[in-house]
Amino acid sequence: MLALLLEQKDGSTVSAVKQVSPDNLPEGNVTIDVEWSGINYKDALAITGKGKIIRQFPMVPGIDFAGTVRESQDARFIAGQSVILTGWGVGETHWGGLAEQARVNANWLVPLPQGLSSRQSMIIGTAGFTAMLCVMALEEGGITPESGEILVTGASGGVGSTAVSLLSTLGYQVVAVTGRASNHDYLLSLGANSVISREAFNDASRPLEKQRWAGAVDTVGSSLLAKVLSQMNYGSTVAACGLAGGFDLPTSVMPFILRNVRLQGIDSVSTPLDRRQMAWQRLTKLLPDHFYQQAVTEIPLDHAAHVATELMENRVTGRTLVKIK
Ligand SMILES: NC(=O)c1ccc[n+]([C@@H]2O[C@H](COP(=O)([O-])OP(=O)(O)OC[C@H]3O[C@@H](n4cnc5c(N)ncnc54)[C@H](OP(=O)(O)O)[C@@H]3O)[C@@H](O)[C@H]2O)c1
Repeated sequence: MLALLLEQKDGSTVSAVKQVSPDNLPEGNVTIDVEWSGINYKDALAITGKGKIIRQFPMVPGIDFAGTVRESQDARFIAGQSVILTGWGVGETHWGGLAEQARVNANWLVPLPQGLSSRQSMIIGTAGFTAMLCVMALEEGGITPESGEILVTGASGGVGSTAVSLLSTLGYQVVAVTGRASNHDYLLSLGANSVISREAFNDASRPLEKQRWAGAVDTVGSSLLAKVLSQMNYGSTVAACGLAGGFDLPTSVMPFILRNVRLQGIDSVSTPLDRRQMAWQRLTKLLPDHFYQQAVTEIPLDHAAHVATELMENRVTGRTLVKIK
């Protein structure tokens, strides 16, 4: 089988598409013929070696994939069934989706929901799944479309763009934050009501600023998240899932103790199965047809490393799909 293999050479990560025997696949009770995978921020960190994502080499990256069961020793899955995998350390500590076959634990798999193709499921991918978890967190925080405007940071990225589309479909007023002026029209076409330049969030935040946002989906972290927190309405919720701008958070307790702001962390890797299935059902129902036509780039496996570099340089908009078969 063909696989994108990451190896260590002189302390650096090198990647190449190679023939690998399926005998080398890791342990697991379901083997899958991978049809589609994607290039996520975490994949880009792993492939370029810019983030210490991978500690064991050789490794096949690819934190998400969709495909067809080839062999199963678990009664819940049968040969020929379509499945989705995101998270669980696949592509980090366990060989991932950037290969013709993958072998995983059955507990990690979600059956492909009816009404969704495997290609569509990877246009959504880990990024879209995470966006859904963020939206669910806002709902669980009691934020409704009547509460006020919802801010989405890093809006041109995989998580941000899906969050914009989901929130807009649910009737929320969405304000997208982007560092790329060229993406304003794209974000409006996804359903954003307005777009703000990232520069507007550059100056140092005071502990509390004018209240502006009923909710926020933050994919950026660091000083931008600190600024957003200082502008949140009384009783609002922020779903924080990303660190595209850095993993620090230079803030104060003021928004929490004086404005009752809820900062909800989002982890998509270890989400329990029932919540996973609920999120996939909702994604299938909510995302409009035009979402699947917006900003999707399809590449073959041997372009994955190049796109990973571009993604690290913030030159990728939306989702990159890797066509395996
Ligand atoms: N918690 C989880 O389970 C989970 C799951 C998936 C992803 N994530 C994290 O969520 C974040 C977004 O993931 P993604 O797949 O959407 O990545 P992505 O496609 O690379 O998008 C990230 C976006 O953030 C903005 N950005 C990039 N560099 C920035 C910087 N230095 N300062 C401020 N904004 C910057 C850019 O948007 P604009 O150009 O529009 O500003 C970029 O498109 C990543 O940090 C990723 O690791 C977490």
